[in-house]
Amino acid sequence: MTPSLSSPHIAIIGAGIIGLSCAWELAKRGAQVTIYDKNEPGRGASWAAAGMLAPAYEAAAEEGAHPRLFDLCMESAALWPGFADAIGRASGRNLGFSAGPSLALAFDASEAAGLQNLRDALERHNVESDMLGADAIRQIEPAVSPDVEAALNLPTDGQIDNRAIVTALIAALSDHASVRFVVGQAPLEDRGGRLHLPGHDIILAAAGWSTASIKVEQNGQLYSLVNWDTALDEIDCYGGQMLSVARGPGLPSMTVRCGGIYIAPKPDRIIIGATMEQGVATDHADADTIAGLRADAARLCPAIAGATQLETWAGVRPGTADHAPLIGRTQAKDLFVASGHYRNGILLAPVTAQIMADMVLEGKTSALAAAFSPARFAAATA
Ligand code: GLY
Repeated sequence: MTPSLSSPHIAIIGAGIIGLSCAWELAKRGAQVTIYDKNEPGRGASWAAAGMLAPAYEAAAEEGAHPRLFDLCMESAALWPGFADAIGRASGRNLGFSAGPSLALAFDASEAAGLQNLRDALERHNVESDMLGADAIRQIEPAVSPDVEAALNLPTDGQIDNRAIVTALIAALSDHASVRFVVGQAPLEDRGGRLHLPGHDIILAAAGWSTASIKVEQNGQLYSLVNWDTALDEIDCYGGQMLSVARGPGLPSMTVRCGGIYIAPKPDRIIIGATMEQGVATDHADADTIAGLRADAARLCPAIAGATQLETWAGVRPGTADHAPLIGRTQAKDLFVASGHYRNGILLAPVTAQIMADMVLEGKTSALAAAFSPARFAAATA
């Protein structure tokens, strides 16, 4: 970035929760922002998500995960109350935010041992969680099946209505004098080996699973952005299928989960998810798979079996091999990336926005932020 710029013009490519949150933070700190998306803003992975804000369940004991992923998730979880409050006030909307807790359930001794492993991992991070027996579980959440033997009460794991937060962010940003939305491809060019987007000083690639294939014009031809930093190729797709049912008597009022299944109640619906399909980028929800998810969810909370089904859908999580995002400067001058947030895109939005604004506007990078630089993949891709 040119150091003399007091109010830089920043182009953000991708209007999902990450791009929108970065736009919010950058504009708040005085930048001029243009947000590009080829599709309707907020209707990609953020729309398909479940709004889980779950550092403990999703990151504390995640095998093969980046060693600092849990810390990043916890830092973002701590930002969520203020972030939700600010966006809620700016948009005048109910975002269905809950800071926690959630319940992780076990039906047998082997699942209970898995919960104990998670509890031990949390203890190593000085995070408390309570192991509950059958009676205590039913007192907290009467909708849980009587067959559940034990549960871990996770005070760190909350949720938000993902569709409400992206809708609210779009509304708040649309009213902002320094922010502009453009529906269409960003006109990126390579000028003599330098990336350029007319009218902008900085480019932030935040297009989720499509980030590597953002197009750049060079000598009349279109090339993919991955040619400017091969680390972008680390972003793989992880498809997920989900459904929602109507709220009603006997259904849970808090997030409960077991293995890969979760039930996440929102103000106007209950989301049930999700499959995890590496390498699958589809928008098709298969009837048998959805029926299987619903049956699995009914095992956790029997009243799900009789609930009215509202919607089924599929989405694509963008993820890297270490399940952590790429956040930071790329190998191309003035090109930054914030993408590949795997199962934690909604959770990690506020911390990603802060890291990007610190980096781009103030030239500051914390040790934690530096650990998520795309450069960590440079050796693998060189
Ligand atoms: N964060 C939940 C999921 O990705 O399914």
